[in-house]
Amino acid sequence: MKKKTIVLLIILTSLSLTGVILIQLYWVRNGLELQEEQFDNKVKVTLKSVVNRMFDERDTLPADPSACGEHCDRRTLQILSAINPSRLDSLMHEEFGGMEISREYAWGVYNPVSRMVYAGDKGRYKSSLLTTNHCVSLSCLYRSEQLMLGVYFPGEKGVLWRRIFPWLILSFFLLAVMISAFTYMIFSFLKQKKLSEMKTDFVNNMTHEFKTPISTISLASEMLLNPKVHESAERTRRYAHIIFDENLRLKHQVEQVLQIAVLDKGEFRLRKKRFDAHESILSCLKSFELTVRDQGGFLNFKPEAILHHLYADENHFKNMVNNLLDNAAKYSRSYPEIQVVTRNNNGMFVVEVHDKGVGISPENQKHIFRKLYRVPTGNVHDVKGFGLGLYYVMTMAEAHKGFVKVSSEPRRGSIFEIHLPMEAQTELTNKFDDPENQDIAG
Ligand SMILES: Nc1ncnc2c1ncn2[C@@H]1O[C@H](COP(=O)(O)OP(=O)(O)OP(=O)(O)O)[C@@H](O)[C@H]1O
Ligand SMILES: [Mg+2]
Repeated sequence: MKKKTIVLLIILTSLSLTGVILIQLYWVRNGLELQEEQFDNKVKVTLKSVVNRMFDERDTLPADPSACGEHCDRRTLQILSAINPSRLDSLMHEEFGGMEISREYAWGVYNPVSRMVYAGDKGRYKSSLLTTNHCVSLSCLYRSEQLMLGVYFPGEKGVLWRRIFPWLILSFFLLAVMISAFTYMIFSFLKQKKLSEMKTDFVNNMTHEFKTPISTISLASEMLLNPKVHESAERTRRYAHIIFDENLRLKHQVEQVLQIAVLDKGEFRLRKKRFDAHESILSCLKSFELTVRDQGGFLNFKPEAILHHLYADENHFKNMVNNLLDNAAKYSRSYPEIQVVTRNNNGMFVVEVHDKGVGISPENQKHIFRKLYRVPTGNVHDVKGFGLGLYYVMTMAEAHKGFVKVSSEPRRGSIFEIHLPMEAQTELTNKFDDPENQDIAG
């Protein structure tokens, strides 16, 4: 899929998700308003029923002057005799007591213009009562002044929210699942895309790497088929040599590729024996020195490890070192400047390969040990490789119960370290051990 299409898909899906979230929020708000409206109506009906009952009983109720308090004027006394606060209180309790919301409520008889409260709650909730929208007129009980009966519920909002809370949680949970699934999908899609790009690069690389020896072999054999060439033994030998060398190169490349499957399945066997790691490194360096000299560089060895005998697979050990040396030379800037240092650290034997090459950015350092990974270089493919070397080094170090490390700075160079356990720490029960080949020399 093209990058543009992916970006478009991501944008569209993100927009739809945002839309769904906004609609969800809109419905939550709507739901809350609806609940409020329903509650409002219910309270109004109940208040009206209280007033109606008071109206029905108005002639039978005795006056209650005690409700007037100490500073009682004539008008207040008149109002209180008309509305009888103690009866009003018991009626309010009867009507509102059964409602879930009314565990705590305050009621009051007041004049909304003069803001005078004549009966009911005159304390804590007085100001809330004066502004409450749960109120009805008391004109049927007292005509000389505009009086209202209002009720205020301190826990109203909380109860309404609690009613829609389970739905809210459920919808947010479903949204969270949707967003996580979407993010996971995008990430795995990008990962798959990267993997497929890496595989395509690998196939292109492989084709290119195989093409060169094949065409050289084809040319040399064509020459050998020419009868004139046979007249000179020297020329025949030279062409045969070319075929032999190129064939070896091809074999080495095929083996390198086939190694991935073996590494992946963990089907390789470690033929462990005791050997001097310094000697093995020296033999790697000797065969590598020529290549480095050819490129005008230098190779330096600082064997600082006091304990340098390993119980490991020497062949794999040499391959690991060779891979690091190969990289140090391949990724140099002009000519290779390589230094190999050994040391002992925490019961481990450490080989360090220092170079002053192109270096690796911190972001790429995280990926270079992955199979087939090569640091992207845009369209420039001047350095050939399969992206398998470091994967091999890491897999082998881990099979030996060791590990690999890299520290690098772009344009400054890199240090690759292989840490392997010393002889004493190496367990013979390693799952990669081949018991038939344990040959402990010395
Ligand atoms: N010493 C180094 N300096 C700079 N970059 C390096 C160095 N070693 C490895 N790299 C980067 O890490 C990537 C992975 O290295 P690795 O050895 O696994 O693969 P390769 O060298 O590309 O191919 P192969 O080793 O399979 O022939 C390389 O493509 C390169 O970009
Ligand atoms: Mg390599």
